[in-house]
Amino acid sequence: MASSPSVPAAKLPPLRDSWRIYRRIFGLSRPHFWLTMGTLTCVVLATGFSLLFPWLFAWVIDHGIHTGSFGELALAAVAILVVNGLRGLFAYGQGYYSQALSVEIAYDLRNEVYAHLQQLSFDFHDDAETGQLMSRMTVDIESVRNFFPFGFVRAITALLTFGAVIVILARLDVTLTLVTLVALPVLALLAWQVARKLGPMWRDVQSQTGDLSTVMQESLSGRRVVLSFNREGFEHEKFMTQNRRVRDAQMSAMRLSAWNQPLMIFVLNVVTVVTLGIGGVAVIQHHLTLGTLGSVMLYVLLLATPVRVFGFMMSWILRAIASGSRLFEVLDLKPTIKDAPDAVALTNVQGHVQFADVAFTYKNGRTVLQDIAIDAKPGQIVAILGATGSGKSTLLSLLPRFYDVTAGSIQIDGHDVRDLTLTSLRRNIGLVLQDVFLFNATIRENIAFGVDDATEEAIIAAAKVARLHDFIMSLPDGYETWVGERGVTLSGGQKQRLAIARTLLLDPRILVLDDSTSSV
Ligand SMILES: Nc1ncnc2c1ncn2[C@@H]1O[C@H](COP(=O)(O)OP(=O)(O)OP(=O)(O)O)[C@@H](O)[C@H]1O
Ligand SMILES: [Mg+2]
Repeated sequence: MASSPSVPAAKLPPLRDSWRIYRRIFGLSRPHFWLTMGTLTCVVLATGFSLLFPWLFAWVIDHGIHTGSFGELALAAVAILVVNGLRGLFAYGQGYYSQALSVEIAYDLRNEVYAHLQQLSFDFHDDAETGQLMSRMTVDIESVRNFFPFGFVRAITALLTFGAVIVILARLDVTLTLVTLVALPVLALLAWQVARKLGPMWRDVQSQTGDLSTVMQESLSGRRVVLSFNREGFEHEKFMTQNRRVRDAQMSAMRLSAWNQPLMIFVLNVVTVVTLGIGGVAVIQHHLTLGTLGSVMLYVLLLATPVRVFGFMMSWILRAIASGSRLFEVLDLKPTIKDAPDAVALTNVQGHVQFADVAFTYKNGRTVLQDIAIDAKPGQIVAILGATGSGKSTLLSLLPRFYDVTAGSIQIDGHDVRDLTLTSLRRNIGLVLQDVFLFNATIRENIAFGVDDATEEAIIAAAKVARLHDFIMSLPDGYETWVGERGVTLSGGQKQRLAIARTLLLDPRILVLDDSTSSV
């Protein structure tokens, strides 16, 4: 049920692809140049000011305190206050700009994915799970959004801090720098370990979450079937099983990123202790000033924050890659049915419909139609009879190009439907589908769905032809009656009549009714 996603679910992209996805995610910031620049500027300045503090500290000890000058002490105190104040200010800016950037990017992505889903053809939506798509629209976009403040900004901060601290240490004292440098490969190895395992884990979390949405969406929209078959327990169990899977997947990922943190901090603590030991001896032997040792210690401690948040930073980066690949998978799908480059608009329709040697095979390889020939003259009414599953609905769905014929051709007034623009084609074909779908809106809005500026008279006229007007007038709210998502306030036949009225309002030259009066 929830196990046939249209796009591969838990497959992890290889490393090279991860890098490509990462670059593509980063590319999403391109339209927001100033926000990106604001974020980067604040990151650089906040990090820069945090690097100034240990330097001022060394200066206080070696000059202010050492020389006993109160003036210099006071000056240093003010300088430290100002530096820390500025650092706080830019840290705020960094938080603000990176969040703003991420919100803009999420907004763009939602628009883009939604618009793309609208364009994808029936063959995609036939087996795409609504729940998976919805979770791509929400959870996955949210992970990509969080990448910017929690992944990217932290990564830049960490790189800047590490780079600057090592350069500064090298100038202060070479031996102590070497101690720090020795720890780097160990830290890098630990980081790599986590990154390698965490990626697939987050991919799993996202796809399990998608399945959870599918289970929820199914049991909520299929509520009536569930109740009538007394299957609440079964559905609940299905939901709980899936919910457990999401929890377990999240747990594994969190456990891994949390477990790593104390280990890395431990490595850093060893560095601090060793530095203190070697540095302390050097101070005693007068090779090193106390101020320098103090500032070296503070610089090493500056590395603690990036190390501490490393696990979470990696989580957000890998999560974004997992989610990004799920989003780009959908965005990269091309609609199979689209306007030909030289498509013409269908105008002055007479309504001459011809099927010539039409054959059709569904994507799953099932050949449903073969050698179909129909010649429906303008004004003629043609009935198509056939057993259940013989392909009547399929045949009708070829006319507005929900699918394209596998062989043969369909012509309207002598034009192959594939040479016409989709908009003009569909505008001229009124199709009442076998499964009626009503929108969560009023009866009026449901009838007027296809026509932007429908007049009151036209709506009523359509309802009258569909023989629904009297019923509507008997409702307390008349045309303003709200019908639910599935039109639960209407009977099966009333829903069909409403669907007919909706199509009649279009006043199409070609009217196609698919079993539309089975319940009326
Ligand atoms: N999207 C699809 N993908 C693959 N196979 C499909 C799809 N839709 C329908 N089919 C198959 O194509 C065949 C024809 O289906 P279709 O809905 O056209 O039948 P029908 O004649 O309209 O039946 P009914 O009288 O019950 O409405 C069926 O065997 C069905 O299983
Ligand atoms: Mg049918």
